[in-house]
Amino acid sequence: MLPGDGIGPEVIEPALAELPADAKIVRIDAGAERYLATGELVTDADLDAIRDSDALLFGAIGDPRVPDGVLERGVLLRLRKELDLYINLRPFPELGLTFVRENSEGPYAGVGERSGDLATETSINTRSAIERCVRYAFTFAGERDQRLHLVHKTNVMTYAGGLWREVFDEVAGEFPGVETGYEHVDAAAYHLVTDRSRFQVVVTDNLFGDILSDLAAGIDGGLGKAASANLHPDATTRPSRCVGLFEPIHGSAPDIAGTGTADPTAAIRAAQMMLGELEKESAKA
Ligand code: IPM
Ligand code: MN
Repeated sequence: MLPGDGIGPEVIEPALAELPADAKIVRIDAGAERYLATGELVTDADLDAIRDSDALLFGAIGDPRVPDGVLERGVLLRLRKELDLYINLRPFPELGLTFVRENSEGPYAGVGERSGDLATETSINTRSAIERCVRYAFTFAGERDQRLHLVHKTNVMTYAGGLWREVFDEVAGEFPGVETGYEHVDAAAYHLVTDRSRFQVVVTDNLFGDILSDLAAGIDGGLGKAASANLHPDATTRPSRCVGLFEPIHGSAPDIAGTGTADPTAAIRAAQMMLGELEKESAKA
């Protein structure tokens, strides 16, 4: 477990009660406190411990004392990258809705520059990353007999959107039983509020998935409940033993940290998702 910052430690504690009594828990101290004391973000020892574990239960990262991006990129995005956790699965069971968020590139790739008054932020989109994400989404929807929507912005982001559309349509050919749809992200945001039953499984780019999943959490009664699984679902290519990083999607909420009011539901659900994923793994094995 990596409790992290803000309300992370407060919500992780009750989530640990979900784990079997004989679970061996290793605590990783990455986060703002250690960063401010030592300058370290994720150490080699942290990475070794995580790679040797079955899974990582993650609290939250982000602290107002540290400049934006340092902890987010240095801890959470670094772990997603090191463990090649290319799927961010965000289920909203009460809404009958699941997001499959591409978790390795897009605008999160960290490519860009600041040059005086000019700033660029490049969205990286590779066929291989889109394809493995889309194939997972088709498999997920197919197993549940659910509709799959691609959400993007192909009318403006023609380079990235064009490739996503092309790959989505190609992979769709392998899953003739899965009903598909496409919506632009702005229309999808509107329809999530006005007519969400049209969506069941949504596969989308990293940034769109980040935003739409908070929107869904808002519709679903708040960020206090929503959990996510950052996964490398394919055991044959998984770079380490660790199947994934499981986290509440709410973040560190420094404004309420220490007040005892943080809702641990999302962290508890993250722990349950972790156990579910581990059960699936051992069943496959
Ligand atoms: C999330 C969070 C992260 C993200 C931040 C903390 C980097 O908002 O898990 O949704 O943007 O992916
Ligand atoms: Mn987010």
